[in-house]
Amino acid sequence: MPVGIRGVAGGPSVAEPLERKGARTVRVSVRYFQQQKDKGIPIVMLTAYDATMARIAEQAGVPILLVGDTLGMVVQGHDTTVPVTLEEMLYHTRLVVRGTERAFIIGDLPFMTYNISSDQALANAARFLQQAGAQSVKLEGGRHMAPTIRRLVENGIPVMAHIGLTPQSVHQLGGWRVQGRTQAAAARLLDDAKAVEEAGAYAVVLELVPAELAALISQRVQIPTIGIGAGPGCDGQVQVVHDILGLFAAFVPKHTHQYAQLGEAMRAAIATYKTEVEQRLFPTPAHAASIDAGLLSDL
Ligand code: KIV
Repeated sequence: MPVGIRGVAGGPSVAEPLERKGARTVRVSVRYFQQQKDKGIPIVMLTAYDATMARIAEQAGVPILLVGDTLGMVVQGHDTTVPVTLEEMLYHTRLVVRGTERAFIIGDLPFMTYNISSDQALANAARFLQQAGAQSVKLEGGRHMAPTIRRLVENGIPVMAHIGLTPQSVHQLGGWRVQGRTQAAAARLLDDAKAVEEAGAYAVVLELVPAELAALISQRVQIPTIGIGAGPGCDGQVQVVHDILGLFAAFVPKHTHQYAQLGEAMRAAIATYKTEVEQRLFPTPAHAASIDAGLLSDL
């Protein structure tokens, strides 16, 4: 069955990389990205922030998990990703690594933990691999971040770049706006994509970029493009797991699709629990251990 626009029927393209070799579990490697692009097979990537969600996503066949700093919004309740700290990102990355065996895990470098100098970036990125168990880091920025990307890559740290709407710059950009709408802005984005490729990034996220421009960039660079709100012409797609599961009700971005309404299902389940406790319907004797009542008769 062909993989439809809603991604039904995980074919071999999704299941293949999640393999075991003998007794040893092998994680998907960075080479997977280029192999998929070269074969023309879409790359599936999803965010995860804890062990349970990561395990479910891996069981569903998702080969690439991003511990995104979107956790600042969908987990921590902030309005932007700006307040997220390095220690928080490392903590969540450890949870995701612990919950998975085979997925490729990318840790997101949070705001101002890589922008000050390439020394700062190298020291902080190293912590994702060494202390949290990630295989890669992601950072926001195009041409101006190229020297930093080069420094990390030269030191053995695979880097995914992120251009277009870069959420850590939301205040500078004046909101969550589509980028690259004018000819000059489109040319800048194409130049950014080429610059991060040249610097050694193995893939680049294109966020909120017009579909035609994202398709053009995907043709003009060799490395895979991973789109979010950038149309079907990208080499892969990433979504925030809370969005596709219908868990984050604050707003539903145009670029997402709710494959389930788990928020509603959870509200209903929790309301039923409340009612059953109040009405003494839960727990029943079956939900607890019991002993011979005679043992208690002399107490
Ligand atoms: O932080 C994040 O989850 C991201 C994705 C939306 C690409 O950067």
